Amino acid sequence: MEKLSIANGIVMAPMARNYSPDYATDQKVAEYYARRASGGAGLIIFEANFIDHPFFNGYKKQPAIHGQAPLDGHKEVTRMVHEENGKIFCQLWHMGAERPVGGIPNPDLPALSASGYRDTETINGRALELAEISEVQSSYARAAANASDVGYDGVEIHGAHGYMIDGFLWDVTNRQQLFD
Ligand SMILES: Cc1cc2nc3c(=O)[nH]c(=O)nc-3n(C[C@H](O)[C@H](O)[C@H](O)COP(=O)(O)O)c2cc1C
Repeated sequence: MEKLSIANGIVMAPMARNYSPDYATDQKVAEYYARRASGGAGLIIFEANFIDHPFFNGYKKQPAIHGQAPLDGHKEVTRMVHEENGKIFCQLWHMGAERPVGGIPNPDLPALSASGYRDTETINGRALELAEISEVQSSYARAAANASDVGYDGVEIHGAHGYMIDGFLWDVTNRQQLFD
């Protein structure tokens, strides 16, 4: 593992901004993050980015970390942040059971998650089959490779807020009997 040096101990938390139509950041997004770096954030965790799994998403204006236009946008984000002596990680995101019904870009697909449960009582979509778990893993791996290619200094895997990874960590929903 490589060590990362940052200019100071200030780390900016990831905060989704919904300013990236068609999954691509534009110049304004890059300028926003560059301003945070020039203002003194030693490390920025760039907001949540969709991985390329078909069941990933539902929001129109959050960035993706796959596809030509999004990747070109990310290159500009990392270039401008580095120019301000900042470091930046890319956050990787799969919505899991939080995926809205009819979510874009594949409205016919259901939500997939660890158990099918959105919370202790609500079901949304269904549980992943074992083979599908490998597909999700590969999708995360591709996203991480893309993030590295476009200049990010690291990645953070979104593991909270009821999304895909979080669902695997709940005692109440990740129950053996759901798979029997
Ligand atoms: C507008 C907004 C967008 C957020 N987007 C993300 C996100 O994309 N990824 C994430 O992990 N957390 C996200 N969060 C959560 C924040 O990163 C942070 O963890 C949360 O605000 C709790 O921080 P606190 O305990 O310091 O209040 C968001 C929070 C806000 C207010």
